[in-house]
Amino acid sequence: MAIMVTGGAGYIGSHAVKQLLEAGHTVVAVDNLVRGHRQAIDHLGTIAEGRLSFVEADTGDRPAIEAALREHGVDTVMHFAALAYVGESVTEPLRYYRANTASALGLIEACDTVGVTRFIFSSTCATYGEPPRVPMDEHTPQSPVSPYGVSKLHVEHILRDYAEACRRNGRDFAYAALRYFNVAGSDPDGLVGEDHQPETHLIPVVIQAAMGVRDSITIFGTDYDTPDGTCIRDYVHVCDLVAAHIAVMDALKPGDERFYNLGIGNGMSVREIIDAVKRVSGKDFTINEGERRAGDPSALFADPSKIERELGWSAEYTDIDHIVETAWSWFQKHPNGYAG
Ligand SMILES: NC(=O)c1ccc[n+]([C@@H]2O[C@H](COP(=O)([O-])OP(=O)(O)OC[C@H]3O[C@@H](n4cnc5c(N)ncnc54)[C@H](O)[C@@H]3O)[C@@H](O)[C@H]2O)c1
Repeated sequence: MAIMVTGGAGYIGSHAVKQLLEAGHTVVAVDNLVRGHRQAIDHLGTIAEGRLSFVEADTGDRPAIEAALREHGVDTVMHFAALAYVGESVTEPLRYYRANTASALGLIEACDTVGVTRFIFSSTCATYGEPPRVPMDEHTPQSPVSPYGVSKLHVEHILRDYAEACRRNGRDFAYAALRYFNVAGSDPDGLVGEDHQPETHLIPVVIQAAMGVRDSITIFGTDYDTPDGTCIRDYVHVCDLVAAHIAVMDALKPGDERFYNLGIGNGMSVREIIDAVKRVSGKDFTINEGERRAGDPSALFADPSKIERELGWSAEYTDIDHIVETAWSWFQKHPNGYAG
């Protein structure tokens, strides 16, 4: 049986394709390339030994998805495809509901028609909004504050209701919603890496400043109620995150419904990230102090004990310098991402 990886030409999806291929699986990557990179698929093809197919399609394109599911005998879908900029979702909410919610519905309908039995969904800590307390466990109320977070929570609800109907009808279906915190770092082998266009994620942005690709870096808010006044986030290495997906996939039994927060359980401040990039790169660069951004909570970090307890997963990359080293190494080889 094969595994379909949607968003397979994107950052996390391409790392998932790589680990699945390395584990001996056959993979069908689907991506509409709105944000993904055809070159990532080409790089992955070099290790695939004929076990990787690529379908350029929107996940909401039911005929194309159904044909791919049938042709390759897919029994499991890992659904990473989405638009993922919180700020952009505020200015273009309809685009986000179309890309993230409507297209996911089309994908799930196609899975229903063909009889896919396992579905693993990329959810996000943005479904929690501004939490009443940290660290955040899976019982934190889900109250998203952006269209992006809502667009993802809708998909969790669609899966919950569909799974319930499958249970009642005696149909073999299981799913998991994995709520990621800040995903960071790149494949240590350098075959695939992080290349968001535009780049808004903190570690690559700071690395670009260290490399002189950007003139400076701006910290948004230095007066938060945190030890150094800057926001705290939980950075989980992309390879650890993908390993959690594979552990979840292997554990899913018919009728299962699983939710896990994926972070390392330890928050790092913006200033700590900047210091890590300075240590790893040996470079100094200009840092500006700007105003807070609306809707940025002071601290977000996970309580990952549920997945540790139930599946024995824990992050191997727990030192921020090691995470930054893998990102730095990718950007050294690819200063302009996949473009060169
Ligand atoms: N990067 C993070 O820190 C983070 C944190 C939380 C959740 N997530 C989630 O993880 C997933 C992957 O994120 P990423 O950082 O790899 O983003 P990415 O932009 O690098 O990858 C997403 C891929 O999906 C493709 N895509 C988008 N909409 C599509 C559609 N409707 N049909 C087909 N392809 C489509 C894009 O072309 C892109 O290649 C997303 O669902 C995102 O919401 C990411």
